[in-house]
Amino acid sequence: MNAVVLGLQWGDEGKGKAIDYLAPHFDVVVRYQGGHNAGHTIFHEGKRYVLHLLPSGIFSPHTVSVIGNGVVVNPVQLVKEIEEIESQGIPVQNLELSIFCPLILPVHEQLDIIFEESRTIKIGTTRRGIGPAYEDLTGRRAVFVADLFDKDRFYKKAKPLDDYYNQRIRAHGGEEISLDSYIDSYMEVGKILKKFSRNTVYSLNNYFRQGKHILFEGAQGTLLDINLGTYPFVTSSNPTVGGVCTGTGLPHKALNKVIGISKAYTTRVGEGPFPSELSGETADFLRKQGNEYGATTGRPRRVGWLDLVVLNYTIMVNGVDEIFFTKMDVLDLFDEINVVTAYKHQITGETTTEFNPTVEYLNSMQPVLQTIKGWKKNIGQIQLFHNLPTEAKNYIRFVEDFIGIPLHYISVGTDQKQTIER
Ligand code: GDP
Ligand code: IMO
Ligand code: MG
Repeated sequence: MNAVVLGLQWGDEGKGKAIDYLAPHFDVVVRYQGGHNAGHTIFHEGKRYVLHLLPSGIFSPHTVSVIGNGVVVNPVQLVKEIEEIESQGIPVQNLELSIFCPLILPVHEQLDIIFEESRTIKIGTTRRGIGPAYEDLTGRRAVFVADLFDKDRFYKKAKPLDDYYNQRIRAHGGEEISLDSYIDSYMEVGKILKKFSRNTVYSLNNYFRQGKHILFEGAQGTLLDINLGTYPFVTSSNPTVGGVCTGTGLPHKALNKVIGISKAYTTRVGEGPFPSELSGETADFLRKQGNEYGATTGRPRRVGWLDLVVLNYTIMVNGVDEIFFTKMDVLDLFDEINVVTAYKHQITGETTTEFNPTVEYLNSMQPVLQTIKGWKKNIGQIQLFHNLPTEAKNYIRFVEDFIGIPLHYISVGTDQKQTIER
């Protein structure tokens, strides 16, 4: 059985926690898009780790971890992450890096910064160079992992980018980064990465044919998808189910199950529309209870109620089979919990349950809320569904009835063990 774990909101849904819980059932864990903009938090033997590029299967010595061709790779950051995790006593073995991953170059990072600073309406990117690197891929001028192993070949491809982008960086008063200043360090990390690098399209297809169980690890979330998300406040890749095939080279038949991850409420980091967003004391309280600070950038996350209009849309476009529902425990202290069940047009008063990801549409809508009684008990140690307080069960059943698919896993804490499976 092969499954994808992907986010149904704006990222940070708890994909790391879900993958950590599910990984023992799989032989291979593969990232298929995004880059080190991701921050997946995992508690392993009581210790907290945040993974950015390494797949969350890295903690299991029996699991093969693959960085698929759809991932943009900053090779310096990848080597740093490998060294950091090894220095904490986790040996990085069974790692496969696709030779087809587009590289993030120092100029990409610099471009991300100057573009963001020159925009009047900011996107709030992670400033990791993700967007500019994917732009070079679609512009058919990217430099790839395979190019790291031959200095002349790398130079030939990177030089035109270096000339062109530094001109633009100069025009914006940014910090120029010449190829000569970093080529040797890229060659050095290339030597380290060579032993992990291969044609993962073939290795993954071989695992598939051998009947190995493959878990696809999504980064970001559906509403950050470049094609289906709240454009332009999105990332530059496809976290949605379509990204699985293009980002790995596996056929659609290699995917049997779509597991969608949703928080019991909603968060967003960065700019852009967020219909169920809260402000004031309730927001501060929810942020504090949920410890909602970005795992990659440390930014405070925007918070709001669970939006079922959003979930119905993201479940639909991904064909989600079941939900891994996270952070239920964060709502323990609320007297009342709201959920969004429809949107109402601010001028005409018309209501709808249709989600349209455009800024114009979302800014013209206000959420219609339904209030559900809170359970006011600590549920963090509960192991079985039937032991949950009645109000907590009611919340789960209300959501299930609305979305029409099961909340198969209920997460009530950061630890792998704090998961109720039904
Ligand atoms: P990801 O990017 O989707 O992997 O999510 P992040 O790791 O960025 O953010 C999720 C945060 O919520 C992490 O700090 C997790 O440790 C934490 N978390 C995950 N599940 C739960 C849960 O059920 N309860 C609580 N309290 N925290 C959780
Ligand atoms: P994980 O995998 C939450 C957001 C950024 C910004 C937008 C574009 O941990 O869920 P980018 O740097 O990708 O060009 O930024 O996307 N963003 C994320 N938000 N979780 C993430 O990853 C994110 N990765 C990018 O905040 O709004
Ligand atoms: Mg995250």
